[in-house]
Amino acid sequence: MKSSSINEKYHSLYRWSIQDPINFWSEQAGHFIKWMRPWTDVLKKDDNKTHAKWFVGAKLNVSSNCLDRHLIKKGDKTAIIWEGDDPNDRKQMTYNELYIEVCKFSNVLKSLNVNKGDRVCIYMPNIIETAVAMLACARLGAIHSVIFGGFSSNALKDRINDTQCKVVVSANEGKRGGKNIPIKGIMDDALQECPSIEKVVVVKHTESDANMHTGRDIWYHEVMKPASDMCAPEAVDSNDPLFILYTSGSTGKPKGILHSSAGYLLHCSLTFKHVFDYKEDEVFWCTADLAWITGHSYVLYGPLSMGATIVLYEGVPTYPTASRYWEVIDRYKVNTLYTAPTILRTLVGMGDSYLNDSTRESLRLLGSVGEPIDAETWDWYFSKVGNQKCPILDTWWQTETGGIMLSQMLQTITKKCGDNVKPMFGIVPDLVDDSEVLTNEDTGNLVIKEPWPGQMLTIYNDEKRFQDTYFTNSKNGGFYIPGDRASYNEKRTLRITGRADDTLNVAGHLIGATEVEAALIKHEAVAEAAVVGYPHPVKGQGIYAYVALINKYQPDEKMINELLNLVKTEISGIAKPDVLHWTPELPKTRSGKVMRRILRKISNNEFDDVGDTSTLVNPSIVELLVNSRTQYGG
Ligand code: WTA
Repeated sequence: MKSSSINEKYHSLYRWSIQDPINFWSEQAGHFIKWMRPWTDVLKKDDNKTHAKWFVGAKLNVSSNCLDRHLIKKGDKTAIIWEGDDPNDRKQMTYNELYIEVCKFSNVLKSLNVNKGDRVCIYMPNIIETAVAMLACARLGAIHSVIFGGFSSNALKDRINDTQCKVVVSANEGKRGGKNIPIKGIMDDALQECPSIEKVVVVKHTESDANMHTGRDIWYHEVMKPASDMCAPEAVDSNDPLFILYTSGSTGKPKGILHSSAGYLLHCSLTFKHVFDYKEDEVFWCTADLAWITGHSYVLYGPLSMGATIVLYEGVPTYPTASRYWEVIDRYKVNTLYTAPTILRTLVGMGDSYLNDSTRESLRLLGSVGEPIDAETWDWYFSKVGNQKCPILDTWWQTETGGIMLSQMLQTITKKCGDNVKPMFGIVPDLVDDSEVLTNEDTGNLVIKEPWPGQMLTIYNDEKRFQDTYFTNSKNGGFYIPGDRASYNEKRTLRITGRADDTLNVAGHLIGATEVEAALIKHEAVAEAAVVGYPHPVKGQGIYAYVALINKYQPDEKMINELLNLVKTEISGIAKPDVLHWTPELPKTRSGKVMRRILRKISNNEFDDVGDTSTLVNPSIVELLVNSRTQYGG
């Protein structure tokens, strides 16, 4: 096939991608990426199919794919429209300006001894300098690890120490919902126990002063002033890592997901172009924070590699009022809005009147990501936000997959929630049963049977966990296991229904039940704790914690505050339990395992059907839990 097929219909491209993947990917790679050296092999798989290397032998630079190659034709085109938390804070940057800023910051990083392969932590608000720092790392072949500005100092410390970063790029303060967030202060606390950090670059984002540590901290604006705006992009191998991004798993500490340069970039740009049908001169707004994978792939790398204009928004959807998103859409004539169901549910709850002062007539397409979208929210999105004229693309994917894996496609879409979801090019989904065997049932655990370019390389520092977590055993051919449940509908298209493990999806963020438990039991009063999810009207899933206190302590107001604050300081405000259910002990099997199945039933109000309790050492606790809903929240 020739390059003209880039614009052909979904079905023929998909068929090609499955029947002849080597030629398909070779063609796409030539179309979407500007290479510094060609590949010798499109794909090399290892024996058990857990490691696939794409475009072996080739070299490229991701930042020059996002910037340099656009300069001749699109240098004066707006790359980023930034809208601050405060509606009066606005800024725009063209591709030329962004290129200069990135080159200068690359030289700053170089002067701080950051070299290819070094790790750089970016702990920032959602501002243009965050994008600059990410692209500057990519320019040098350094690996960025962006940490969400809402994470606590403990969470930040663990992530920095896991990757042994040399440099942190941060800001004095962030702004969210009219409040200033003391980013630098939180970072300073973390850095007391991060011996690998040599230098900290601080962006002065608000007027407040910062406590600068002599010899360690430097102001961004001061070092940028004298920096040269010439910086040749480093040629990196296709499979050299571009970034590490942490995500929560069902057990243990968060996993540092490591992504490649070439395969990742190809997957983001190709899906950006095909799923969102990106057209020149359109404005694309993905509302995710740059610190999440959705921000990496569809705020930054996918759109910029295609030369698009993006909106980057610092604030929350409800500040100063719940009209904010709609004002932004009208002001910048946004054509595509890509957001999460939890945000939509929050806005639905505020009432339709907030839509009255905007037309949103520039919108052409709507997207959804992060969790299943329910029919009610879908209807509101379609009829109210999109005035019944914009198709809604429900896109399923993960930090680990790099980009969109399943989505409705414009050419095949119907006006029905969850209908006709298609696999992206090269993606071969199927269902297995609980013993990881392919099943003919309509419901099962999702697997992806073949590798794809955007697939993660490994878990940073933990190859064994990578193998154990993500692959069926080799008898089944080493299929990738995302950890989600899915079902086929009557048309045999897939619908993702939720997680298959103990990871909670709270307001679109994955949170490990065990992480919250570990935080709670750090309190001297807590004997044991178990955390499960329960249906929450706005967040999708809420966090329900069963807590057993040591006898001499009381479950009073003070204890509630202490426990909630503890979770906030250990992890983040987003991990705070919505419900604390006090119990003398947890239901356990004879081997000492907590029976989460029963706890889940109780938190879901399914009291009549708690199932078999005969294997418990303490069956009476179940009745007590059902009747003793002495709790906070709910
Ligand atoms: C869930 C976010 C249903 C799923 C891009 C997945 C979804 C996890 C959808 C990944 C969707 C994401 N429908 N569930 N459209 N999109 N999920 O790593 O459980 O933050 O495994 O990546 O979110 O979350 P992550």
